[in-house]
Amino acid sequence: MIKVTLRGPNGTFEQEVPENSNLVVLAGLKKFPGLRYSCGMGRCGKCASRVVRGAEHLPPPDWKEERVLGEDKLQEGYRLMCQLYLTHDLEIAQDKVPIVPAYRRVRQKV
Ligand code: FES
Repeated sequence: MIKVTLRGPNGTFEQEVPENSNLVVLAGLKKFPGLRYSCGMGRCGKCASRVVRGAEHLPPPDWKEERVLGEDKLQEGYRLMCQLYLTHDLEIAQDKVPIVPAYRRVRQKV
């Protein structure tokens, strides 16, 4: 089993989940409370979470994460929980307000 800690706007949740679990799938089945998500497909960014511990065990971001999170959020340690299947313990934090997907952010001229 894998221990997952979620620090979110509604409190801290700690739970053990089976190996290769996807937290958004578990949340959809009401088996992982407290996680914010929506599309489950790497489009909306609602499941974006900053990885506090365990990032070294995650695979590199896929193209959906790059498109939604953008270079800045990836550098800050954010990942899309709907795109990850967990193999090691993980601690994540969700902000009070969901991120705006990078592809929707207004580009500002410098
Ligand atoms: S739930 Fe929409 S991007 Fe993860």
